Amino acid sequence: MTNTNLLDTSPRQLGDQTIGPLAYGCWRLVNMSVDGAQARIECALEHGMNLVDTADVYGLDWGGTAFGSAEELLGGVLKQKPELRRQMVLASKGGIIPGVPYDSGYLEAACEASLRRLGVEQLDLYQIHRPDMLSHPEETAAILDRLLTSGKIRQVGVSNHAPTQTSALMTFLPGKIISQQSEYSALHLAPLFDGTFDQCMQHEQTMLAWSPLGGGTLTELGGVPASLDKVLERLATREDVDRATLCLAFVLAHPAKPVAIVGSIDQGRIASARNSLKVKLTRTDVYEIIQASMGEDLP
Ligand SMILES: NC(=O)c1ccc[n+]([C@@H]2O[C@H](COP(=O)([O-])OP(=O)(O)OC[C@H]3O[C@@H](n4cnc5c(N)ncnc54)[C@H](OP(=O)(O)O)[C@@H]3O)[C@@H](O)[C@H]2O)c1
Repeated sequence: MTNTNLLDTSPRQLGDQTIGPLAYGCWRLVNMSVDGAQARIECALEHGMNLVDTADVYGLDWGGTAFGSAEELLGGVLKQKPELRRQMVLASKGGIIPGVPYDSGYLEAACEASLRRLGVEQLDLYQIHRPDMLSHPEETAAILDRLLTSGKIRQVGVSNHAPTQTSALMTFLPGKIISQQSEYSALHLAPLFDGTFDQCMQHEQTMLAWSPLGGGTLTELGGVPASLDKVLERLATREDVDRATLCLAFVLAHPAKPVAIVGSIDQGRIASARNSLKVKLTRTDVYEIIQASMGEDLP
């Protein structure tokens, strides 16, 4: 029905675990005290963002100090307050090696280093951060299978993979790729068209949407094409929310039941991300955002 609200805000299945429709990302959780990081993590958990996503490379850019430093900071939080570990579904990523730039052959060593930095025995989700075009998927699958069998990781996901790359890996790891993490927002629509969403629905993989606010660009009036500005402003006013909230709602309004990974380090903004769950967007609204972002009407 054209007027039906497309937002499904029910919990998502991440393999054998249950997570909220909003997750918390630690890319920008760098360069602060352990107390400061703990406050942000607790705020995210309190507001239902129980999937906490990090990566070994976080900290190398975006204001951080070094490769591994974001995981070390999160490890500091978990050491200071160990009970938080049970409240979160902990996800990390590996495979980016600065200067190389990718090597899936090192995923086992990379994962072990992540576990050490985080001070935990198991990751709930381990993701290949970017596809390594020079590793055979059968070899990558063998490494991931060893990590699963040893209990160092509970589940496997991919990130920034083309559907064909995911399919190739799935051939050698049948039934074990349970999530795909890709950039998706009102500014970046690729997963709608490149087969990522379709593959997630086909194989019941959880779609984890990174940079749901386009890294912040979507929140600024004038930061995006005028046609998109106009639609976002109108719908945000109608729904009585700010643009960030509306843009998070857009990400959630897809039948694949995506999870939007919130990246703010501002506690007020982390908390208000929850307002996106109350927004109502119809099929016409969502298509309007898509077409305004594309700058042309769909045929
Ligand atoms: N797999 C990958 O390759 C990949 C790549 C990038 C990101 N990620 C994941 O996705 C997560 C989120 O990415 P992201 O940080 O780029 O997400 P985002 O939500 O698109 O952008 C967050 C940025 O927007 C700013 N912002 C401005 N106004 C805001 C508002 N009203 N509400 C919220 N934020 C506002 C935030 O600043 P303040 O902090 O000041 O609020 C922050 O700098 C990362 O932490 C990481 O886990 C994965």
